[in-house]
Amino acid sequence: MVNEKILAIAKLIKIDGVTEQEIIDSIAVPSDASLGDYCLPCFKFSKIIRKSPQMIANDLVNSFGNLTSPLVSANAVNGYINFYTDKLFTAKKVIGEILQKNENYGNSDIGKGATICIDYSSINIAKPFHIGHLCTTVIGGSLYKIYKKLGYNLVGINHLGDWGTQFGKLIVAFKKWSSEEELKARGMKALTEIYVKYHEESEKDASLDDKAREWFKKIEENDEEALRLFNIFKEVTIKEVGKTYDRLKITFDSYNGESFYNDKMQPVIDKLQQKQLLTESEGAKIVDLSEYGMPPCLIVKADGATLYATRDLAAAYYRKNTYNFEKCLYVVAYQQNLHFKQWFKVIELLGEPWYKSLVHVPFGMVSLEDGAMSTRKGKVVLLEDALNKAVEKSLVIIEQKSPDLEGKEEVAEMVGVGAIIFSALYNNRIKDIVFSYDKVLNFDGETGPYIQYTNARCNSVLEKLGSLDYEKADFDAINNPEGNAVIAALEAFPKILTDAIEKYEPCYVARYLVNLCQEFNRFYYAHRILNEKESVVIARAMLVKCTHVVIEEGLRLLGISAPKKM
Ligand code: ARG
Repeated sequence: MVNEKILAIAKLIKIDGVTEQEIIDSIAVPSDASLGDYCLPCFKFSKIIRKSPQMIANDLVNSFGNLTSPLVSANAVNGYINFYTDKLFTAKKVIGEILQKNENYGNSDIGKGATICIDYSSINIAKPFHIGHLCTTVIGGSLYKIYKKLGYNLVGINHLGDWGTQFGKLIVAFKKWSSEEELKARGMKALTEIYVKYHEESEKDASLDDKAREWFKKIEENDEEALRLFNIFKEVTIKEVGKTYDRLKITFDSYNGESFYNDKMQPVIDKLQQKQLLTESEGAKIVDLSEYGMPPCLIVKADGATLYATRDLAAAYYRKNTYNFEKCLYVVAYQQNLHFKQWFKVIELLGEPWYKSLVHVPFGMVSLEDGAMSTRKGKVVLLEDALNKAVEKSLVIIEQKSPDLEGKEEVAEMVGVGAIIFSALYNNRIKDIVFSYDKVLNFDGETGPYIQYTNARCNSVLEKLGSLDYEKADFDAINNPEGNAVIAALEAFPKILTDAIEKYEPCYVARYLVNLCQEFNRFYYAHRILNEKESVVIARAMLVKCTHVVIEEGLRLLGISAPKKM
């Protein structure tokens, strides 16, 4: 996203053999604002001009003549040219644009005509939806919203783990210890309970496993009763996780999971055979990947069963044929790095040029401060319970801070859930997260509640002011270091969005919001908004309004609600 100031700078620089685009790409923002608004390092031009960077910078500055808006001045320092820009120009442009576009500020059509598939959340049927699923769910959900804002066509896919011998076990367990009424009444809790019970009992009674195998075989053979039960388990799970997805503002366009590919694997296996990529190993069919430094990719087991990777291969073909994606993202924990490397390689070996459009978007692990998540100890924290606990704690804080607030429960829901989402999106994906309720709910930290609180502050200022005639604004009232810092942050929003999808990092948006709020709060404490001259009040109110718009839109992209009052 190149703005007119960067373009104006690029137009000034004439060096034979260096294109305007190269200049644009070299222009940076100095880390210290007193050094200018933009800078151009001249080091690499030394190779072409054969002078010192400082001499080049000097010569260039001398060649500029009188600068005109949006540029104000330039000077050469230590091999850099520093540029100072017209703050009033920028303020008017940025504020004008945000007030006109509102939440559409930052929208773009760079994605027009292109489809992105995102495989995220992808939970396993009849297994608990625990806090380990948080990252895939919210990272995928946020990328989905950011891509959409940039004009892409999206297909959000929940690649359900709905296949495997455990479904035979579940049927046995269900028939022995449960009923449809119970599943209807108690949902997933009942399902996970009988699954655990099955494992206890089958250790004592091996005949259970035989029965389970029989039932699984029946599912594979499309036996009516077996399929009916299988579908009930699926429905119960999807209905239940649906409540959590609603709280997280997550939606999917497809729930085609592993079982959907039962009848779509044979063509892939045939193709592998044709291309002579399959080898036999102890009765199993594999693709040898030793040449690429990887263990073999298992395609068909000795007993004829297909594998996780086989289904991913079939799913990739299905998605390419159905959606003709430009990219297909897999938001899956880094523990599965090898799995994705292997089968992406298989697609490449199959000669499919679109293997390059398959992207694994890995992320780190979430654990709780007290170590509660360690599956070794067998203590699994359900995502639902974690959300509830954060909401409860938020309610306590809100009751202390704002005892008279209306609708405290609803606000606590937005704050508690938002705090958890924000904490999962704040760090680079690949970092492991140790989760602490107190930290994520700190209203003054780099947290979701801090952003929401700042947003509510903006809202309450605007409510006090009522409707204003923006034509009367005196922009000099915000032409100060704090005001200009807010404007610079607002101006950066569109670029943050393209950076975020380029790196598949929603944390860019989360960190951006923290920065915007910090700059805004600095402004808020340094400059009075109410009880000033009308033209001053109006200019400052415009800045508040624009900050409010961008915070709310940023939060929406992360899947976080913005309470009007807190
Ligand atoms: N259900 C899998 C798991 O929980 C994740 C599936 C990810 N998506 C995929 N296409 N492999 O580990």
